Amino acid sequence: MARTLYYYCAPEQSESRRREFSQLMAAAQAALATGQAALWQLQALSGAADYEALLAATALAAKGKAPADAPILAPDDVLLELGVGAVGVGLRLGALSQFKPLVIDFEQVAVRQRLLRGGRQKEAVARAVMQGLADGALVFDATAGLGRESMILAHAGAQVLAFERQLPIWCLLSDGLLRAGRSRFYPFPVPTLHALGTIRDYSGSARPEVIYYDPMFPERGGSAQVKKDMHLFQAVIGADRDTEDFVQAALALATKRVVVKRPDYAPPVAFADIKPAYSVDGGQCRFDCYQP
Ligand SMILES: C[S@@+](CC[C@H](N)C(=O)[O-])C[C@H]1O[C@@H](n2cnc3c(N)ncnc32)[C@H](O)[C@@H]1O
Repeated sequence: MARTLYYYCAPEQSESRRREFSQLMAAAQAALATGQAALWQLQALSGAADYEALLAATALAAKGKAPADAPILAPDDVLLELGVGAVGVGLRLGALSQFKPLVIDFEQVAVRQRLLRGGRQKEAVARAVMQGLADGALVFDATAGLGRESMILAHAGAQVLAFERQLPIWCLLSDGLLRAGRSRFYPFPVPTLHALGTIRDYSGSARPEVIYYDPMFPERGGSAQVKKDMHLFQAVIGADRDTEDFVQAALALATKRVVVKRPDYAPPVAFADIKPAYSVDGGQCRFDCYQP
């Protein structure tokens, strides 16, 4: 059964932000026509009263006290909101509705310090992906997620085309990159987000030199230690279980290299005669590099 994605924009937001929010939701609606229709249905919340009632009833439902006929966010449903005073579009999940919304904000001090301190040498992902590439090389981030590594690669000089197949995350990232693109902190071309989907949907003629692939790996227990926003992100997505297929698709498309991120305790993706040529150590993770 389709999950519901509710959406709401506060009338207090500026006219231009409200317009951007409606454009985003129009793009999400268009994406449903391209294969996500079975997964999601969109539902607008027309006013602050509906928005507040939905959150209040969902909170009561979590305590087993919701009025029978009140609309609530089911555990799998999500709410995308541009609330009063919010810097960006936020995401809530029914099952974790008590969490404050997850927003992608590349301008936050801690986030931008991490993104900008790196360059090619400091960040292992940039070393693995950018080795031997000239500035402006076309790199696909096949699994954009919250966009942090896409931004690191863009800062390291890549022209990044990012892919994301989960509709709520795609909406969040689309808004995050839009704001990053006009931020004074990022005076370089920020990643471009492809239409919702995977590298299989790419129909351009330019082939990427490198494809970076960072699927969601099943958690090894102890999720209480995962930070709240990562916990929410993981709960929206679940694990990605089609890694071999995508490594193969990436190897058919990249001209120089496919880089796969794995936790340090996990074996490399290896099947048939495909195995990594070498790896770059990333501390708690590893970047396995495959040559087409
Ligand atoms: C572990 S997260 C990536 C985190 C990302 N590297 C970052 O810096 O935020 C994996 C993300 O890739 C998406 N994803 C997984 N497999 C995908 C695929 N084959 N095509 C497009 N997106 C995919 C998931 O929905 C999820 O958002």
